[in-house]
Amino acid sequence: MKIAVLKERRADERRVAATPETVKKFVGLGVEVAVESGAGAAAHYSDDDFQGAGASIAADPAATLAGADLILKVRRPIMEDENGDNELTRMRSGQALIAMLNPLIRRSDCDAYAAAGIDAYAMELMPRISRAQGMDVLSSQANLAGYKAILDATEEFGRALPMMMTAAGTIAPAKIFVMGAGVAGLQAIATARRLGAVVSGTDVRPVAKEQVESLGASYVMVEDAESAQAETEAGYAKEMSEDYQKKQAALIAETVAKQDIVICTALIPGRAAPILLDEAMVASMKPGSVIVDLAVENGGNCALSEMGKVVDVNGVKIIGHANFPSRLAVDASNLYARNLFNFLSPHIDGENGTLSFDFEDETVSGVCLTRGGAVIHPMLTAKC
Ligand code: NAI
Repeated sequence: MKIAVLKERRADERRVAATPETVKKFVGLGVEVAVESGAGAAAHYSDDDFQGAGASIAADPAATLAGADLILKVRRPIMEDENGDNELTRMRSGQALIAMLNPLIRRSDCDAYAAAGIDAYAMELMPRISRAQGMDVLSSQANLAGYKAILDATEEFGRALPMMMTAAGTIAPAKIFVMGAGVAGLQAIATARRLGAVVSGTDVRPVAKEQVESLGASYVMVEDAESAQAETEAGYAKEMSEDYQKKQAALIAETVAKQDIVICTALIPGRAAPILLDEAMVASMKPGSVIVDLAVENGGNCALSEMGKVVDVNGVKIIGHANFPSRLAVDASNLYARNLFNFLSPHIDGENGTLSFDFEDETVSGVCLTRGGAVIHPMLTAKC
């Protein structure tokens, strides 16, 4: 079997889907690995590093993909509607594609994979079961994004975070409010606490209370009959009713006006991110305050955030960087590449280096979008 590792072509993407460490492990299982020249450069892995781990280096996408059975990528292939390029046209029928494919939002891409005869596997759909924790790309990447959000906030914030008692006087600690206490939010809370800020967090899932408080932050949330049912079986949040949103907005408005930094991380799988900060709330914050909107790629939690930009609204900076995990490309690549290896290795026969997916295994059936020319994932076929 041959694995192809393509270079990511989006301008904001610095990660790579394999590292010398995972290449070495694949090669150890008898698999051939071709890495496109320069694929690891933005994450500080050179062609020589990959070659030293046992990969062959291919000059361009065509050479990388030639004869490959499996294609590893970080992000979904660029399609025609983006910039005229179409990475899918380079792939051939029968190849398997493994990446973060964003299938619930990019539904039509899934039809294109099926029409091209590509068996596509979307790593974001990995079931959240204990056995699959090492394959959970959402967690591995969100954790880094949450950490980086705090560092990015401090860069725009003209003050220190911890309380400091100096001969010239005392500096008050910064107040940080984290909206959404999932993987990214909890890491943001932990990082802000480590830096000495006074931190609070909110979510719609009551179970988050204990997690937030265990990190030394206070928990703020609207608790009612609806919030008691706010968590899906998969552990994600549901979209809340208008009535709940009104109550939540009142509580957030009161809380936000007292904050120096707000980190937004609230997401609902397959839907636009909930708007939690409106214009009036932003206007209520002191000049010099900072908002980081990690949800900006899904529409944003702040009504005023703009993707890829830092905007200044009456002295309040709103950070809307695209692709936070890519801003820590080395760690993000290491963890993502390990997630892919952990997913694939149980299905590789180490005697002869062949791959045979076990479709009885929910880590495979849970992420497989298309197979044999058809869209098969229940979350996609149910929507047809
Ligand atoms: P996510 O990225 O989908 O959403 C981030 C957070 O936003 C979630 O905590 C969600 O409840 C919250 N949110 C959504 N709508 C909101 C609103 N209107 N207001 C405030 N907050 C809102 O979620 P993520 O980070 O992927 O985690 C979801 C859950 O899965 C968490 O409980 C996490 O601990 C759990 N998890 C379980 C794993 C496992 O068992 N293997 C692995 C990773 C996470």
